Amino acid sequence: MTGQNLYRKARTRIPGGTQLLSKRPEMFLPEQWPSYYSKARGAELWDLDGNRYIDMSHSGIGACVLGYADPDVDAAVHAAIDGGSMATLNCREEVDLADLLCELHPWAEMVRYARCGGEAMAVAVRIARASTGREKVAFCGYHGWHDWYLAANLGSLSALEGHLLPGLDPAGVPRSLAGTALPFHYNRPGELESIVRTHGPDLSAIVMEPIRSHEPDPGFLESVRELADRAGAVLVFDEVTAAWRMNTGGAHLRYRVKPDIAVFAKAISNGYPMAAIIGRGDVMQAAQDSFISSTYWTERIGPTAALAAIRKHQRCNVSQRLVEAGTKIQTGWREAASRAALPISVSGIPPLAHFAFEAPGAQALKTLFTQRMLESGFLATNAYYATFAHTDQHIGDYLAAAADVFHELAKARETGSVEKLLKGPIAHAGFYRLT
Ligand SMILES: Cc1ncc(COP(=O)(O)O)c(C=O)c1O
Repeated sequence: MTGQNLYRKARTRIPGGTQLLSKRPEMFLPEQWPSYYSKARGAELWDLDGNRYIDMSHSGIGACVLGYADPDVDAAVHAAIDGGSMATLNCREEVDLADLLCELHPWAEMVRYARCGGEAMAVAVRIARASTGREKVAFCGYHGWHDWYLAANLGSLSALEGHLLPGLDPAGVPRSLAGTALPFHYNRPGELESIVRTHGPDLSAIVMEPIRSHEPDPGFLESVRELADRAGAVLVFDEVTAAWRMNTGGAHLRYRVKPDIAVFAKAISNGYPMAAIIGRGDVMQAAQDSFISSTYWTERIGPTAALAAIRKHQRCNVSQRLVEAGTKIQTGWREAASRAALPISVSGIPPLAHFAFEAPGAQALKTLFTQRMLESGFLATNAYYATFAHTDQHIGDYLAAAADVFHELAKARETGSVEKLLKGPIAHAGFYRLT
């Protein structure tokens, strides 16, 4: 298998083998996952051996909400390349995109850019610290790999329990940052209240996703807003993954709670590196009191792709289709599992759907699911990230295959043969969030 051979070599050249934990083959199907692609288009991709798969898994880790190689976004990008993607002068697309983002989010007045979600979150936290003159950050959920965030694990390896990778070692993060990142759980305003009570005057920011796996409890986001105001902290909504799923723009628009800063990346540009930090003018101006600057934040492809992706999102009412597709998948999982008498729980907003096997040996069951679905021509795991390129045919074919595999899994459980049917090791457990 060419992909696995290449991955074995990659691990000797690239620490960890890949640049993103969520793309490590061990997270899906150790020693069998195709690992590398040669071509991706719509909902399909081809591995290095020319095998074709329908991708019903993470769809570019949530980046390609329109599908792979979207023709409209790619046409705009090709034009930007033909016109020169980098120059000594600035590209006008970054001003056009700022206008469009502020139109979609009328509470925001100013915009800065980066190219990745984690770095954009680091920019947001820098701006919040510069604007308040304070250092501490209260946070909930996952926000990337940077020092401000991993600092939560300094001093106590259990501080991120339920927030990132339990036990994650923050080696390389300055010890002097210990006590600067203070975690709280989603839908538990009392925890944030107690942070505000103890650390309020030192709190620069409250950082969280407005939604991830669960809808906010009534009044939760409003109470976070109120606590931010009470503490005089900047409320930062991390929309890196939540945005562009249930509506065009940030998920917070649906809940009518306005942050001071919102951060976008991933799906904003459908597969081209781009990130935006939008915010109230007075808060964003604090970027000028610090130094936040990078050469490739000025290139032209990112903002061009974002403009084309957002316009298509609006024009084609993409979010409605994402919700419809995700709902079909969630319903299909529930029905197939119930027919097979396989205990599963289904969670997530429909465009970012998940299921979990509620049985001993859940990780082995998940691995066998991925193995059998791969043999049927699907990239599949216990998650489905909806894209505009997923047709009803893709969904129907996937659910038919998943129903067959659920039956096989139920039978394998009965006979105690789940692990025997695996052709390689059990997948590594990942990264989970409590939001
Ligand atoms: C909520 C959230 N914030 C930040 C990030 C980090 O973004 P990136 O991987 O583009 O650095 C992610 C990535 O999964 C995310 O889901």
